[in-house]
Amino acid sequence: MPDFITVAKKSEIENGRMKEYRVAGRVIAVANVDGEYLAFDGICTHQQCSLAGGFLDGLTLTCYCHGAQFDIQKGDVLAPPATKSLGIYEVAVEGDDIKIQL
Ligand code: FES
Repeated sequence: MPDFITVAKKSEIENGRMKEYRVAGRVIAVANVDGEYLAFDGICTHQQCSLAGGFLDGLTLTCYCHGAQFDIQKGDVLAPPATKSLGIYEVAVEGDDIKIQL
């Protein structure tokens, strides 16, 4: 089973915000939703815009490029033009460290 890798610090991500990290060659976005940290692919499946630059409303992320929406907990597409869901990652929090399992 893959190890958890530290990608971020809790103190870096305010409630309701997202940040982008590069981990093992991948772009991962981490969001803080009311103190719950969620990690998912940081690149939109439509035309590769950065999702951390989008808008977050609860668990719904809207891509700033063309308005596709995703559920960042399940990875599901909620609104087009994206059709492919996002990869999501298991998160573990230890102290201030946010770790994900790739
Ligand atoms: S790149 Fe995200 S909606 Fe087009």
